[in-house]
Amino acid sequence: MTKSLPMSAVILAAGKGTRLRSALPKVLHPVAGKPMLEWVLRAARAAGCEHIYVVVGHGADQIQREIEADDVTWVLQREQLGTGHALLQVASYLSAPTTLLVLSGDVPLVAPETLDRLAVGARSGWGSMVVAEMEEPGSLGRVVATADGTLERIVEVADATGEELENRWINAGIYVLPAPGIFEFLTRLKPDNAKQELYLTNALTAAADGDRRLALVSLVEAEEAFGVNDRLDLARVHGVLLRRKAEELMREGVTILDPSHVVVEADVEVGRDSVLHPGVSLTGRSRLGEGCTIHQGAWLKDAQLGDRVVVEPYSVLEEVEVGNDCRIGPFARMRPGAVMKARAKIGNFVEIKNSVLAEGVKVNHLAYVGDATVGENANLGAGTITCNYDGVSKHHTEIGKGAFVGSDTMFVAPVSIGDGAMTAAGSVISKDVPPGALAIERSEQKTVLGYAKRKLERRKTRKQ
Ligand code: UD1
Ligand code: CA
Repeated sequence: MTKSLPMSAVILAAGKGTRLRSALPKVLHPVAGKPMLEWVLRAARAAGCEHIYVVVGHGADQIQREIEADDVTWVLQREQLGTGHALLQVASYLSAPTTLLVLSGDVPLVAPETLDRLAVGARSGWGSMVVAEMEEPGSLGRVVATADGTLERIVEVADATGEELENRWINAGIYVLPAPGIFEFLTRLKPDNAKQELYLTNALTAAADGDRRLALVSLVEAEEAFGVNDRLDLARVHGVLLRRKAEELMREGVTILDPSHVVVEADVEVGRDSVLHPGVSLTGRSRLGEGCTIHQGAWLKDAQLGDRVVVEPYSVLEEVEVGNDCRIGPFARMRPGAVMKARAKIGNFVEIKNSVLAEGVKVNHLAYVGDATVGENANLGAGTITCNYDGVSKHHTEIGKGAFVGSDTMFVAPVSIGDGAMTAAGSVISKDVPPGALAIERSEQKTVLGYAKRKLERRKTRKQ
C-alpha cells in the first residue's frame, strides 16, 4: 500500500451479531478455519497499517483471549450504540493527526488490491469508501453518488424508501478517513433513525454535505463486500474463502477433482502434482509434499506428509508426520504423535497413536499401536494390539527391526521384543523377547476326533 500515507487501522467488532443467534461473539465465528476477525486483521496487516485498533464490546473478554494479536490495541465500547459511536471510541487513543483505515469485523473477504485502491482514492479528496454494485444488495446500506463520483449520501435499509432500495450500489463498510477530521462529524451524530443507533454512515453523509469529498472506490470483486449478519451469510463467506484457496492450489499445480467438494483451510500447503479427491478436508497447519494422493473422505488436521503419500478413503489423521511413499488406509486413524517413516504402510481399521513406525513397517489390518516404537521392516499381523494402559498410566512397547508379529498378538506394556524376533499368533506377550527368538503363549491345541459329527447327530435325534 501507499507508504506515503501513515495509516492506522480501526476494526469495528463490538456489535452483538444478534441474528447469528449464537453464544459465540460474531467475529469469533470460524470461516475457512479461522475466526472471522483474523481475516480482517490479516487484511489490515497486508495494507501495511502502522497500528491496529480493534473496537470490542459484546464478548470483549473472549475475543481478547482467543485472538493472538501483539500488534493490536483493544478499545472498549461499553455500550453498542452504533458504528459511529464505535469509531468515536478510538479518538482518545490518537495523539496526532492520522489517516484511519476503517474496517468492519464482519466483512472478512476484502482483498489487498481493494485497500490499495482505497488509499489512492483518499489522496484525491478528504477520504474514500468502498462501494460495489450487487445483484442482491440485501440489507447493505445504499450509496448515492454525485455526478463527479464522490459520495452524496448513504441510506441504511431500515430507513430507506422503496425507490431507494432499488439502488444496487452498496456500502461495503470499509473506509479511509482523516482523524481527527471525522470525529467532528461523529460527535454530532443523533440516533434519529429506525434503529436508534449512531450510524457512522450518517456522519459520512454529513461530511459530504459539508463539502468533504469522499471518493467512491469499487471493489476488485463484488463478493468482497459480503458481510456476515446471519448464518446464511456465514456459509456464503466460508464458500468464497474455500473456493479462493482451491483456485490458488490449482494454479500452483495441485489437481482438485471437484473443487466445490473439498475443504482446504487457509494455512494448508500442498505440493504440486498432488491429487485431492472429492470430500477431502485438509485443515489446520497441514503440509503435503509433492505427488500425494488423498482419496475420498479423508480428514487431515495438522498433518505433515512427505512426497508421494497415498491416503486411502475415509482415513483420519491428526498431528502426525508421514514420510515419503507411505500408504495409509482405507479407514485408518492416525492420532497425535503418530509418525510413519518412509515406505511404511498401515491398512484398514488400524489406529496408531504416539508411536514411531520406522521405514518399511507394515501394519495392514485391524490393529492398535499406541506408545510404541516399531523398528524397520517389522510386520505386525492382523489384530495386533499394544495394551498400553493399565488403568493408571501408559506404558511403552518396543518392537525390533524386522520383527514378525503373529496375528492377534497382545503386547502387555511395558514390554519389548528384539530385532528379528517372532511372536506366535494369539499370544499375550508380557515378558521381553530376545532378538531372533520366537515367543509363543497359548495353550496346546486339543483335537477330539469325530466329535463334531457325533454332536450334530445327537442334536438331530433330540429334535425328532
Ligand atoms: C453497516 C453499515 C452499512 C454497510 C454494512 C456493510 C452502518 C450504520 N451501516 O451495516 O451501510 O452496508 O455495514 O457490511 O454503519 N459495530 C460496533 N459497535 C456498534 C455497532 C456495530 O463495533 O455499536 C460493529 C459490528 O460488530 C460490525 C460492524 O460494526 O462488525 C458493522 O455493524 P453492523 O451492525 O453489522 O452494521 P450493518 O447493519 O451490517
Ligand atoms: Ca454487518
